[in-house]
Parts: sequence; structure tokens; C-alpha cells
Amino acid sequence: MDHQPVLADQVVELLLPALEHGGVVVDATLGRGGHAARILEAAPRASLIGIDRDPVALESSRANLAAFSDRVRFASDNFSQLASVLERLRVASVRGVLFDLGVSSPQLDEPGRGFSFRAAGPLDMRMDPLRPLSADTVVNDYEEQELARVIQRYGEERFARRIARAIVRARPLTDTSSLAEVIRDAIPAATRRTGPHPARRTFQAIRIEVNDELGSLETALPAAVDALEPGGRMVVLSYHSLEDRIVKRYFIEEASGCVCPPTFPVCTCGAEARVRILTRRPIKPPAEELERNARASAAKLRAAERVAPHVVAPRDEKRSA
Ligand SMILES: C[S@@+](CC[C@H](N)C(=O)[O-])C[C@H]1O[C@@H](n2cnc3c(N)ncnc32)[C@H](O)[C@@H]1O
Repeated sequence: MDHQPVLADQVVELLLPALEHGGVVVDATLGRGGHAARILEAAPRASLIGIDRDPVALESSRANLAAFSDRVRFASDNFSQLASVLERLRVASVRGVLFDLGVSSPQLDEPGRGFSFRAAGPLDMRMDPLRPLSADTVVNDYEEQELARVIQRYGEERFARRIARAIVRARPLTDTSSLAEVIRDAIPAATRRTGPHPARRTFQAIRIEVNDELGSLETALPAAVDALEPGGRMVVLSYHSLEDRIVKRYFIEEASGCVCPPTFPVCTCGAEARVRILTRRPIKPPAEELERNARASAAKLRAAERVAPHVVAPRDEKRSA
């Protein structure tokens, strides 16, 4: 199945006010270029830098964005390297940044990438195939306790210890189908009958570990705010609570500014708000979009605008997100 850009109208609507007079927008998770094409269409004076750590994704977006080739530059990199990508391209500041986190449909649908518990494939799950850590190492080499920690923390899986024990007993595991089967068998039968596929959480956890997804996000968010000009906007689409929590907390922190106790007559901390939150609550896909694209179901969109230095946000911004 093709990757349909999630909440594309809302992404464009939020970024557009910052791009009306042109400027550079970064699509930090270019994928097949679905969002990028929509942004470039809507903002004819803007140019775009597309980053992806997956060379296959970059290759297909090159073809998909051929109509905009004079306004697009590509960077094969982790978005945690945003600052050095911009430096390399001699871009001092940008008007917009988009993060559409996680894996794409083409990555999930290609069994050879090893992301899917629904199809037989190698234990891989690397977005960037040149990275040394693959799912094989996590599944076959991690100590049981460490494996349980990964599954619990990144999968929020309540049966993490049972699953880790079952995986260690079943070693060596060689493919995604046998891993999915071991996970399914480790989960109590009553729980298996309800809810999503029993291997979903564990596969998510291993994928997050392999790709250091949360670490990359934590590095990239401040780099994006640093790069934005005042009035520039960033939009983040996340697909599970761990990512969304990081984005929500970060935006609140950057929007808070002064952290002096309310009893202080004047500010003594000197901290300034760097952003204004544009989404009081996260935006979720409307029902019509979910009918067309089941993979949008967990999506949450949050957006913020860079504010000029020396503008201290009102204290109640802290409570608004
Ligand atoms: C959900 S898809 C994006 C789809 C894209 N918005 C579109 O419309 O085609 C996420 C993409 O981001 C890439 N990606 C995820 N984490 C990344 C990171 N830390 N650095 C660079 N690319 C990343 C993945 O390889 C994948 O291609």
C-alpha cells in the first residue's frame, strides 16, 4: 500500500502562514515525499530540505518530487543531525520544520525490512541499513533483563518479563514470524483474544531500541527550535504515547519562559519562552481520514511557533497544552 500523508491538510494549514513569503522548510522525515509535495504545492515561493535516514525512502521521494526539483534538496541523515545538515547546506535559519515520526507504510509493507509481525522477514528493523544494531542483536544477544526492560519501556507491555523469558528460551530466532509466534505464545490466552495483535507492542519496542527513536527525537526538537526564525513554525506528528509525551513536555517547557514562583514580584530567573503553542490539544485525524487510512488511527499532531527573543509568554501558557 502507498503511504498516504497523515493529516496533510492540517499540516499545510499550520505551516503555510510561515511560508507565504518563501523561505526554507525542513521535512525531517521525508519518506516518499507525500507531505513535502503538498507543502511545495501550497507554498510556491518556499524551498524544502528533505531529510531521511532510509536511502530507499530518499530514492523514491527524489522520483516523486521530480516536479519540484529546483526547490528541493535531499539529505541522507538522521534528523538528530539537523544542525549539521543545515550547516552543510549553508542554511542559517528556516521558516518551518515537519516531523512525521516512526516508520512509513512502504517500510512496514516490505517484508525484507523486518518491521512487520504480519509477514515473514529477517530480524532487521533498521531504518538506516548501515547502522550496526539490528533487531537480530536485540532479540538474540541482549540479556534477558535488558530485553525485558526494552519491551516494558518502549512497548509499555505488561507481560514484558514473560515475553523476554520466552524469547531467550527460544534462541536463536531467525525471522519475524517465529519471533511473533514466541511472543503470542508467551501472552496469557485470555489477553490474546482481545485487543490488537499480541506482538504489536514488542515489535514497536524493538524497533524503537534499534533506531534509538526517542533519543533522536529528544536531540532534534531543540535543534529545530534553534533553527527556526521568529514566526517560523514546527509541526510534529507522533504515533504512540512515548513520542507524544516527549513532544508535549518539550513544547510546554519551551513555551513556559519564566520559572519564578508566582509570588515573586519580578522575574529573577531570566528564562524566556522560545515558542508559542499553536495546538491547545493535539489534533487527531477526522473519521473520513481514518476510513481511508487505518494507519492514521494513532496519530496526534502538535504545533508551535517560534517567538522573537525577549517576548515572555504569559504564565498561563504553561497550562494551555
Ligand atoms: C511516517 S514516514 C514519513 C512519511 C512522509 N511524511 C510522507 O508523506 O511520505 C517516516 C519517515 O521518517 C524516517 N525517519 C524516522 N526517524 C528518522 C530519523 N531519526 N532521522 C531521519 N529519518 C527518520 C523514516 O525512515 C521514514 O521514511
